[in-house]
Amino acid sequence: MTTSSRIPGFYKLDPESRFQKLVEFSGLPAEQLRPLQAVDGGMAAIADRMIENAVGTIAIPLGVAANFLVNGVDYLVPMATEEPSVVAAASNAALVAREHGGFHTSGTAPVMIAQVQVLDVADPQAARLRLLEARDELLVLANAQDPLLVQLGGGARDIEVRLLASVDFRALVVHLHVDVRDAMGANAVNTMAEALAPRIAAIARGRSLLRILSNKADLRLVRARAVFDAGKLGGAAVVAGIVDAYRFAAVDPYRAATHNKGIMNGISAVVLATGNDTRAIEAGAHCHACRDGRYTSLSHYEQDADGNLVGSIELPLALGLVGGATRTHPVAQAAVKLLAVKSAVQLAEVTAAVGLAQNMAALRALATEGIQRGHMSLHARNVAAAAGASEAEIGPLVQRMVVDGHVRLDRAQQLLAELRAPSR
Ligand code: MEV
Repeated sequence: MTTSSRIPGFYKLDPESRFQKLVEFSGLPAEQLRPLQAVDGGMAAIADRMIENAVGTIAIPLGVAANFLVNGVDYLVPMATEEPSVVAAASNAALVAREHGGFHTSGTAPVMIAQVQVLDVADPQAARLRLLEARDELLVLANAQDPLLVQLGGGARDIEVRLLASVDFRALVVHLHVDVRDAMGANAVNTMAEALAPRIAAIARGRSLLRILSNKADLRLVRARAVFDAGKLGGAAVVAGIVDAYRFAAVDPYRAATHNKGIMNGISAVVLATGNDTRAIEAGAHCHACRDGRYTSLSHYEQDADGNLVGSIELPLALGLVGGATRTHPVAQAAVKLLAVKSAVQLAEVTAAVGLAQNMAALRALATEGIQRGHMSLHARNVAAAAGASEAEIGPLVQRMVVDGHVRLDRAQQLLAELRAPSR
């Protein structure tokens, strides 16, 4: 048994040999660690190419949300999530939205921001103007880094210079705005920022330090709206309840965090299924929710003149179709094919629609029967399985727990023991 986590050359081993090291290190029987390994050699090889020190993969359920009509086009939307009820809730809300034409979306061009931090500037106000005077030169230099992007219609579009007076009166930051077309854009803009930094530092007569994209991708916004039929939702009281639930999130950050988490249940599931960067999307979304200095809801709900519920959402979504795991992971590739989107902007629009649907479904449940009832039976299945129930035992066990209203591991174990006890 190895007791040190210092394993020279660990990174050079293949996944199987790394797995053997884990067995040695842990002192556990290999069988107990076996689930860490990829189910087949092909996936192990892909994982090994994607990240360092790979030993295997983790399979997250992939479901498909139905009923999505976005800008008049039907989509079956792949969603990767470990959470029960998410896919069903999105599908149900999308069905309600169909009654009035589904989701309508719009968005900005896919423009990302790269930041170049400049320190030790004696005259930041004047340096700002010097940099703006050099705008055209800097854009040419940036675009020289990525001729293919320029050929595809993208490229550096503008610069902005911000003085960071609150940090240090001698610091500034240059923002480079880049249309990244169908890429998430991190590689393109980071390369440009690194290339520009020496020239920027020279013009500012300072010292450049960080050169990195901003996940506050607020020049890459996407919007979705939908009308949810009052009758289909369950009547005027339900519409009023959803609007009141939204108002709670609009004014209270404690509620807004949970409300937005519900939105991200949908969005992150599509992001993961398509091999995009879930952390970038989450960071951008929550930062946007705080854009006016106070954390609030990313979505809005109103009652329209006909008494129906109108939902809308706007947020940054830095999603790509080329590069990253979207290109290297076979499941992500298939998910993108199923979606049949032609551009990253279209993918972002469908994703925003899913976020809105997910959010509306949660608010409807919360404002009516509460969230637990819907969650109960899927959750109960998981609890029953965790208690050791066989496939045949899961059904009766779930039924007992749901009827009792107690979905807990200890209760499941107790009921399972009763179920197995020979009848007297
Ligand atoms: C649970 O994953 C998400 C909800 O909490 C969202 C919400 O409260 O709006 C149900």
